[in-house]
Amino acid sequence: MLTVEGLRSRYGRIEVLHGVDLTVGSGEIVTVVGANGAGKTTLLRCLSGVQPVSGGAITFRGEALASVPAYRRVARGLAQSPEGRQVFTNLSVEENLRLGAFIFADDRVERDMADAFAMFPILKEKRNQLAGGLSGGQQQMLAIARALMGRPACLLLDEPSMGLAPILVAQIFEVVKNLKALGVTVLLVEQNAFGALSVADRGYVMETGRVTMVGPADELIADPRVREAYLGL
Ligand SMILES: Nc1ncnc2c1ncn2[C@@H]1O[C@H](COP(=O)(O)OP(=O)(O)OP(=O)(O)O)[C@@H](O)[C@H]1O
Ligand SMILES: [Mg+2]
Repeated sequence: MLTVEGLRSRYGRIEVLHGVDLTVGSGEIVTVVGANGAGKTTLLRCLSGVQPVSGGAITFRGEALASVPAYRRVARGLAQSPEGRQVFTNLSVEENLRLGAFIFADDRVERDMADAFAMFPILKEKRNQLAGGLSGGQQQMLAIARALMGRPACLLLDEPSMGLAPILVAQIFEVVKNLKALGVTVLLVEQNAFGALSVADRGYVMETGRVTMVGPADELIADPRVREAYLGL
């Protein structure tokens, strides 16, 4: 579904992605784990089109994305839930969800909203409240639900567990697992390597702008280098 080849990206004169190769198959949960500053967010921003690419290629569902602007990529089936959640705090939960469906004007939006509320009952309870009044975990659920309102074929999740209490972290990874059952393909970027690898099919380890390891998630969890560097084991 998604192929990244030799991807390079820079901030000014400083290159931070030095030729990243990655694939995501239809229906897969793929995770990219790596420490602070490895380039994970930059990679996702290149995919969603808000960060300039200085080399390499991104192909999504058979189409080269280079000439597809960011706002068109959602309609192509690629939606991102950004790092730090970035929900619209002064809008209600329901308004946030509707914005996620801004490219559609059909009756399916109401059904999608019902599906989102079924997946996150707490959001239904709070549908008329301002998003800014939600807890961090609830805002993260809203950010994921909002991205799902764009009916993505592939969902890009940037550090959904960041800053959450352990019980909520477990809930968020449970949500990611459930997405797979719904047929959504997920590219999950995380510093929480254990949580991410526990729900993923395959994983990539990124270090300072390069992929240093790749493999089935269960093999990476068992790998002594990963255990030492990322799992604290
Ligand atoms: N706006 C920016 N301007 C200049 N350099 C940046 C900018 N954003 C990120 N960088 C640098 O690019 C590199 C990769 O950063 P990036 O945010 O992609 O890492 P990350 O893996 O997402 O980290 P984290 O896990 O902390 O979110 C880092 O060296 C960072 O300092
Ligand atoms: Mg990041």
